[in-house]
Amino acid sequence: MVSPEKQAFFEEQQVALTFDDVRLRTRSGHQAPLPDNLDLTSRFSKNVELKVPFASAAMDTVTTSEMAIAMAKLGGIGVIHAGLSIEEQKTEVRRVKHHLNGLINRPISFDRRRSLESILNECEDRKLDFRTFPVVDENNRFAGLITQNDLDFSEDLQLSVMDIMTPASEVTTAAPGTKIEEAYSLMMEHKKKTLPLIDDNGEIAGLYIFSDVARIVRGDEAQFNVDERGRLRVAAAVPTDAEACDRIEEIRGDDGEFLDVAVIDSADGDSYYAFQTLELIKENFPDLDVVVGNVSEGASAGELAAAGADGVKVGQGPGSICTTRTETGIGTPQVTAVYESARAVEKYDVPIIADGGIRNHGDLSLAIAAGASAIMMGGMLSGTKETPGDILVLDNGSRVKMYRGMGSPSAMKASAASRKRYDVKGGGEPLAEGVESYVPYKGSVVDIVDMCVKALEKSMRYVKVDSIERHQNETLFNRITNAGLVESHPHDVQVVSLKDKD
Ligand code: XMP
Repeated sequence: MVSPEKQAFFEEQQVALTFDDVRLRTRSGHQAPLPDNLDLTSRFSKNVELKVPFASAAMDTVTTSEMAIAMAKLGGIGVIHAGLSIEEQKTEVRRVKHHLNGLINRPISFDRRRSLESILNECEDRKLDFRTFPVVDENNRFAGLITQNDLDFSEDLQLSVMDIMTPASEVTTAAPGTKIEEAYSLMMEHKKKTLPLIDDNGEIAGLYIFSDVARIVRGDEAQFNVDERGRLRVAAAVPTDAEACDRIEEIRGDDGEFLDVAVIDSADGDSYYAFQTLELIKENFPDLDVVVGNVSEGASAGELAAAGADGVKVGQGPGSICTTRTETGIGTPQVTAVYESARAVEKYDVPIIADGGIRNHGDLSLAIAAGASAIMMGGMLSGTKETPGDILVLDNGSRVKMYRGMGSPSAMKASAASRKRYDVKGGGEPLAEGVESYVPYKGSVVDIVDMCVKALEKSMRYVKVDSIERHQNETLFNRITNAGLVESHPHDVQVVSLKDKD
């Protein structure tokens, strides 16, 4: 429950506030020391947890599988953008889900009569980045295993799989229902890198892969954000129309196992179309978490939560590449938008995702103290190795990558999803609500998120809270003036970097 002092602060304000308008108040810490490890676990949506409260934006210059894999391994989540065909988006989502496997329920298997060449071609076509497969006979019974080595060391690609596979009689197998710890012991004992689970009919009921099992059992991936099957979590953006259901159906698979969250992606999350799409998705996929955005008024967030949204994304125009506010004049500044939205959804137990406008690390802590459970970032993560697109070298030698708004002219030209996001109607040039930009190449996103984590932790130590929930409820704000803002940044010095001169 949000503290009465915090409520009073926001109620007294006669203006809407953003990050640079406020700072957090520190608290006395003499009563109890904070634990060494602060608890940064949070939620992206009602049923989807985060180990760190960060998400990468559903933008075509930010999140495809590479970014989503990195984000989930760092404890957050990536939202694969919707400017892809259904097939492409499915491939990107599946890459994340296949990156790490606890138990593979339905492993890809091949008929033993297939030629090696046809298998390699299929791997290529399906963009599979692994080469170990169970083999089945004409009756779909387990017949053996082929591995990367078998394929690599085979000179004659016309041979059939049964000529080179390890036959079933020589493969260590286990029964369906074998727990991951038992699988680990068996694989260690027999020095096996794969463990097929075979049912009473001799059919394949699952497959364990040693590298993934070992990571999970040994706890090397304690920080990874994984689903209950031990696979990295991932979200996918969908547009505000019936195509959303087609996308979700394709992406999540028959058992719904390949997608953790659908994110209805609109510049106006409080539109008739957004509500209709939410209703449609909930009707067709009742057990899938659905986040809806974007809004910037408490009332909008509350109505979406009441309509069944499992998370509400807040931010209209705060983004670094956004021109929605200058073009249309709408949009509540982000701290007030997040605070009011969080208050409005409190009784539904729905998390708020603060989306856009993070310029300094301190803004992350401000967004959470205002009530956000997760923070979505585009600009902060842009220009990293894991974003789609090439590194360009400018005339002055600096290395850059493109970062553009989904409502920028080129993004709207490139994708129907962008035009849908900005509800483009009629002919002629659409009204742009975003810009294209180059940002410096920043190296790996791992270092960027690491610094975000450190900054958030440091901030929580100053204000003496040890969990996201306590930060949301207890941390108090000061309203600052422009003089306070000037004082907050380095001033009256010429900043230099001595890093390279040691
Ligand atoms: P940051 O500040 O992290 O913001 O770069 C990323 C968020 O901005 C939103 N977005 C846009 N908003 N016009 C807008 O008004 C656009 O063209 C645009 N493209 C992205 C989006 O919510 C993203 O997560």
